[in-house]
Amino acid sequence: MSRVLLLLVFLFHAYLGMAQTLRQASPWSSGVGLADRIPDRPADWPLLTAQFSHVTPENCMKPDALRRTEQAWNFNQADNFVAFANSKDLKVVGHCLVWAKDDRTPAWFYQDGAAPASKEVLLARMKSYIETVVGRYKGKVAAWDVVNEALGDGKTELRESGWTRAAGEDFIALAFEYAHAADPSAQLIYNDYNNELDGKREKMLALLARLKARQAPVHVVGLQGHYEIDRVPYEALEKTLIALRGIGMKVVVTELDIDVIPRSRWWADANKHRAEMAKVNPYVDGCPPEILARQAEQYAQLFRLFRKYDDVIDRVSFWNLHDGQSWLNNFPWKRVNHPLLFDRQGNPKPAYDAVVKELTVGAAKGK
Ligand code: XIL
Repeated sequence: MSRVLLLLVFLFHAYLGMAQTLRQASPWSSGVGLADRIPDRPADWPLLTAQFSHVTPENCMKPDALRRTEQAWNFNQADNFVAFANSKDLKVVGHCLVWAKDDRTPAWFYQDGAAPASKEVLLARMKSYIETVVGRYKGKVAAWDVVNEALGDGKTELRESGWTRAAGEDFIALAFEYAHAADPSAQLIYNDYNNELDGKREKMLALLARLKARQAPVHVVGLQGHYEIDRVPYEALEKTLIALRGIGMKVVVTELDIDVIPRSRWWADANKHRAEMAKVNPYVDGCPPEILARQAEQYAQLFRLFRKYDDVIDRVSFWNLHDGQSWLNNFPWKRVNHPLLFDRQGNPKPAYDAVVKELTVGAAKGK
C-alpha cells in the first residue's frame, strides 16, 4: 500500500473512532442504570445524553422503594425520574416488578396476619401491584424487568423464596401476563445474573420453554453482566447467545460492569474470607494504567462478541454512569472501584476508547 493510502486508512479509522459516541456507534440501544437523583444532578446530563438513549433507575422503582408497606405507596422519586427521562427523550426501563428474593421483597407481600399468605393472596397482591405500577407509567416506560433473579444458583431450578413457597412457578408467567395486560406495548424482560453460565443457562432455557408453552408474554432475556476482570465468561456467553438465537429470543445486557477488584472469594468457602476481604481496597488513589489497559482489552473482546450477535442483542446497558457512582464501590464491601467506561470526573477511560473503536473500526472492517 502506498504511504498516502495508508495515511488515508489511518485517518478514516481515527475519524470513525473519535467522531462517535457510544450511542451513535452502537448497533443496539445504548443504556445505563442511573442514580435515582439524576434529575437534581445537571452536571451529569451532558455525558448521559451524549452517550445513552435508555435509562434504568437504580433503586426507586423497586417494590421496596415503591411500596415498602401495604399502605404506603411512594411514587415521588419514580415520578420525577420518569418525567426527567421523558423530557430528555431518554427511554425508561422500569426495574423491577418482582424481585424473586426474600430480602428484596417487602415483608407484607408474604404475610397474612401472623400466617404466611396463601397462594391466592400473594398472587392477588402481585396483580394489583403490577397493574398499579405498570398502569401508572403506561406509555412513559418503554420496557420492564418483570421478574428479576428467579433462577436458583444451587441445585434447585428456582431460587427458594416466599414466592416459590406460596405459588411455585406460577407467579412468573402471571407476572408477565399482568404486565402485558397493563401495557401491551411495553417490552417485557426476564432478568437474571449468571444466567449465561453453564448450569444456570440450562435452567433458564427450560424455564423459558415452560413459559412459552404457557404463552407467557416474555419478549426478551436480560443478562445482568456483572463481570470481574480476568474472568469474563466469553465462551459461556457465546453459547448462551447461540442458544437464545436458536429459540428466537432477543437479549438485553442490562447491568454491565467489569469489576477491577476480584470479588468471588467473598462468597467462597462458606464466607470464611470476609473479614480479610473487607480490608481489600487496592486502588484508592486511582487505578494503575496496566489494570485499565487490561480492562479495556476485556471490554473490547466483550463488545466484539456482542457485535457478532448483533442480530440478537437489542440493548446494552451499563450499571451506573461513571466509576464514582458504581454500586461496586459498596458491594459486596466498601472499596474504591473502577468498573465502568468513565472515570470519577466523567472522562472517558481506555475502556471507552477500546469499546468505541471496536464498534466503529471493527465494524467498518466487517470482522
Ligand atoms: C443494586 C443497586 O445498584 C444498589 O444501589 C442497591 O443497594 C442494591 O441493588 N442486580 C440488580 C440490581 O438487579 O437491582 C442491583 O442494584 C444490582 C444487582
